[in-house]
Amino acid sequence: MKELNWSGLGFGYVKTDYNVRCAWKDGKWGEVTVTNDEYIPIHMAATCLHYGQEAFEGLKAFRGKDGKVRLFRVDENAKRLRSSADYLLMEAPSEELFTEMVIKAIQANARFIPPYESGASLYVRPLLIGTGAQVGVKAADEYLFLVFVTPVGPYFKEGFKPIPVIIDRDHDRAAPLGTGHVKVGGNYAASIYSGELAHEKGYSSVLYLDAKQKKYIDECNAANFFGIRDGKYITPNSHSVLPSITNLSLRQLASDLGLKVENREVEVDELPTFEECGACGTAAVISAIGSIYDPMLDKTYVYGNGKEVGSWSKKLYDTLRGIQYGEVEDVHGWTKEVILG
Ligand code: PLP
Ligand code: COI
Repeated sequence: MKELNWSGLGFGYVKTDYNVRCAWKDGKWGEVTVTNDEYIPIHMAATCLHYGQEAFEGLKAFRGKDGKVRLFRVDENAKRLRSSADYLLMEAPSEELFTEMVIKAIQANARFIPPYESGASLYVRPLLIGTGAQVGVKAADEYLFLVFVTPVGPYFKEGFKPIPVIIDRDHDRAAPLGTGHVKVGGNYAASIYSGELAHEKGYSSVLYLDAKQKKYIDECNAANFFGIRDGKYITPNSHSVLPSITNLSLRQLASDLGLKVENREVEVDELPTFEECGACGTAAVISAIGSIYDPMLDKTYVYGNGKEVGSWSKKLYDTLRGIQYGEVEDVHGWTKEVILG
């Protein structure tokens, strides 16, 4: 293959060799298959197409300096897919099947795992869809679980520089008792319009507030939010926020580094009090937030000088990346080596 420009990769779809599939039919999961077909033959009345009966995951594999390939917290992604599936009344793969298929997809596409020096990684996208035909709004009787991979660089065009963010008070991503806590397509559909408006205005991401009162911070469109103040790592606890595995890990690392961790309702009025803010997620890693614009008050909060990553965010970033690339001891047992064979 033509050598990819690994260090120039953004966050997009690059065709790889294979994807891995397993179908649930007649009450059970069938055989795991590996295919080079990028397309899915699907019934026109499949529930995923009409009623959004679908859930997905995102995780990464990293090639270390030592040549080893490590997957980060695959067990947590498997669990979260099950929780998303439960809420949409979908059949979900077991943790074992999920992990087996993720590893198979990585092994089959080993030549797409970016080299260590590039700073890029292999993004793994497990997808679960209702494929059974229904016309009424109800659960399908057939499902497809598939895993594809694609090499990626930074999610935001700023790379690892702080991003500008805008609060959206005119659109909501997730209802208070809705589906924000699970990783389902509908949440992302609800964020496309407001995300695009933000991009047109020059912002990299939207910060959503709680849909009911607009009093508390929820999260960004593809990442959780955290703020740091007075030696505390503060991050919203809300039913409409996706339980981010990166944030879960950062809460542990923050505590290991000596920060006090607060996972609670975070008022939007606290924004001016933070010394550092960030967006965190598998794709976003830790993207420091340089500024947050609130259109209602016509006010911009700037963090640090708005251009440099704050010292705690940098420490957290270095520790997390260090664990993922095998350079910092994985004391919590978060990584799993993928043997390429
Ligand atoms: N919040 C949303 C809405 C997301 O799409 C993601 C990405 O998965 C996250 C948070 C971060 O979650 P994780 O750290 O598990 O990738
Ligand atoms: C991830 O971080 O894995 C995400 O799912 C973000 C994505 C929606 C692009």
